Amino acid sequence: MTPTDAQTWIPMQLEELRLLLLARGHAQYTGEPVNHLEHALQCAALAQRAGAPAALMTAALLHDIGHLLDGIRGTPSLEGIDDRHEVRAAELLSRWFGSDVTEPVRLHVAAKRALAADSRYWRALSEDSRRSLALQGGAFDAAAIAAFALQPHAAEALALRRWDDAAKRPGRVTPTLDAFWPTVRVCARPDA
Ligand SMILES: [Fe+2]
Repeated sequence: MTPTDAQTWIPMQLEELRLLLLARGHAQYTGEPVNHLEHALQCAALAQRAGAPAALMTAALLHDIGHLLDGIRGTPSLEGIDDRHEVRAAELLSRWFGSDVTEPVRLHVAAKRALAADSRYWRALSEDSRRSLALQGGAFDAAAIAAFALQPHAAEALALRRWDDAAKRPGRVTPTLDAFWPTVRVCARPDA
């Protein structure tokens, strides 16, 4: 079964996660010059080029899957909604993966909040990313940055966030989803 654009779709099997990306990845990443699948593939490709381990490459590929669960609609941030996509994604991914995949995903918004304390980083964010940052609570203060840095996988989340921000270039050539999928499967639990 393949999800239609309008359905809420919670994948129950790892293969359904791949189908979800293929079925809904054509949707434009609103406010960005790429679609969801292009963004995911570019993020994974940047992780691969940086020599990231398989788990972090998998996290990079799947970090925004939370945006695709509810069907394709408008831009949540324009409606003043923080869709908490990082939490939903991490919860979903915990069906198949360990914390080396789920935690960088769960923390990739916190990583943006930590990085946004640097005004140069904030200025370089896309308009939608700035809008969602405000809804997500804005830049961290020094105490919040220190607390974030103590969390397991914070360093991986910061790396993922940098690739995430760079993974919005139209026309960039990347490996296909099928090319990345063996890496995803290697990271998954044997019964996935
Ligand atoms: Fe992203």
